Amino acid sequence: MFTLPDLSYAYDALEPYIDGQTMEIHHSKHHQWYVDKLNAAIKDTEREEKPLEELLQSLALLPKEIKTAVQNNGWWHRNHSLFRESMIPGGKEPSENMTKIIEENFWSIEKCKETFAQSAATNFWSGRTWIIKEHDELKIVNTANQNNPLMNHQKAILGLDVREHAYYLKYQNRRPDYIQNRRNIINRDKVEELYNK
Ligand SMILES: [Fe+2]
Repeated sequence: MFTLPDLSYAYDALEPYIDGQTMEIHHSKHHQWYVDKLNAAIKDTEREEKPLEELLQSLALLPKEIKTAVQNNGWWHRNHSLFRESMIPGGKEPSENMTKIIEENFWSIEKCKETFAQSAATNFWSGRTWIIKEHDELKIVNTANQNNPLMNHQKAILGLDVREHAYYLKYQNRRPDYIQNRRNIINRDKVEELYNK
C-alpha cells in the first residue's frame, strides 16, 4: 500500500510564489486522492507489496479491470511527488556544471527559461511541462493529464504541474505569472541529481 509522502517544508514555505492554501489542498486533497485511488485499485491483489516503479513498469501485465486506475493514479502519484521535490523554499542557483550543461543544450539559462515558459503557457492539456534528458540531450516537452516522459523513454529532470489546481487560487487566469514565479523556488540540486541518476 502507498502512503502520501510528507512535504519536506511547510505548506506556506514557498510563499509568495505558491500560496500555502494551494499547497495544502494540492498535497492533502489532490495528491491524497490519487494515492487512495491507487491503493483501492491494488487492494487484495499481489501488487499491494510492489514498489511504485515496478508497478508502473509492468502495467501491461495488469488485469484489465484495474489497469487504467493503476496507470492513471500511479503516474499522478509519482508526478506529484516529483513536483514537490523539485521545489525548495528560497530556491537555488544551478551549479557551475549544470549551468554549462544547460548552456550547451539551450544556448543560455535565459533561453532555457524562455522556452520552458512558452511551452508551459501554451500547454493546452491539463498536464505538465518538463525538461527531459534523452540520449544526453536536454529537451522541453509537454504532456497531457497523468502522463510522464518516461512513458516515451525520456527521463524527466524537472516538471511543472500546469493543471489549474496547482495555481488557480492565487493566479486565476495568469498562468504565465505562476510559471515565472516558480523559477524562484526550483530545487536545482534535485534537478542535477536527476540529471546524473
Ligand atoms: Fe496537481
